[in-house]
Amino acid sequence: MNDDVRKYIYGALTVFVVGVLVWVGFLFVNACGFSLACNRGAFTVDRTPVPTLLPANLPVMQSGEMTAASDQCRVAAVDLLGAWVEAGSPETDAFQFVDVNGQNCESTFDEVKPLFIEANLWYSGSRSCVTCHGADVAAASAQLDLSTYAGITAGSRRADAESNGTDILGAGTWESSLLYDFVTTGKAGISGHDDIASNLLIFAGKALPVPDPTATPSPVVEATATPTP
Ligand code: HEC
Repeated sequence: MNDDVRKYIYGALTVFVVGVLVWVGFLFVNACGFSLACNRGAFTVDRTPVPTLLPANLPVMQSGEMTAASDQCRVAAVDLLGAWVEAGSPETDAFQFVDVNGQNCESTFDEVKPLFIEANLWYSGSRSCVTCHGADVAAASAQLDLSTYAGITAGSRRADAESNGTDILGAGTWESSLLYDFVTTGKAGISGHDDIASNLLIFAGKALPVPDPTATPSPVVEATATPTP
């Protein structure tokens, strides 16, 4: 009788221990498979929950809608270039153009120049024109220096820094100019020209005050002298 009770107790204990081992084994195999090189239980590297280094790769703001002052004009970069060329490519004088909203606007060469100088402008990741068409005429692509006003107006294919070359501004006729051709048409095989976007919109210039045709000149009020007693 005593032996039977002992048998049951030992039996139950054995079943319990085997059960625990099987359960632990099951968990291990479940998590790690049959590999002993499993490190799922290893301590994880401590990290601060606060991201300290944010990746600085936010996309370039294409349409600076939020940064635009209310009297700024919005225009296709190509059209700004065109208006400047058609106005005789003035160095300091203002020239006028009509922006995408039909406003009459005014700008100067100061706002044209960045189109040649700035990288990442015509399209995301684009090189600036001056990386290839730099100040060193002999080394520049097409012997064209786009880094200064003098360089731009001196043209391309120049023999040296002193001489003028081919007019890239079409003698003031924008659509027949080399510049127009090279910024509006992708040139397959010419690096820097294979994917220039011609529809880039920029903010440039200032809106000119709209003359109000209904306004009547305010009558000049004659200042009446205060009568002295
Ligand atoms: C990666 C280099 C590179 C970049 C960037 C580049 N160009 Fe050029 N560009 C060239 C090369 C090379 C040629 C000559 C193509 C040829 O021989 O027909 C050329 C030719 C030209 C020409 C025609 C000159 C001629 O006499 O045939 C113009 C105009 C021009 N580029 C303007 C620009 C402008 C504007 C930009 C910037 C928006 C620009 N390029 C950016 C390499 C570049």
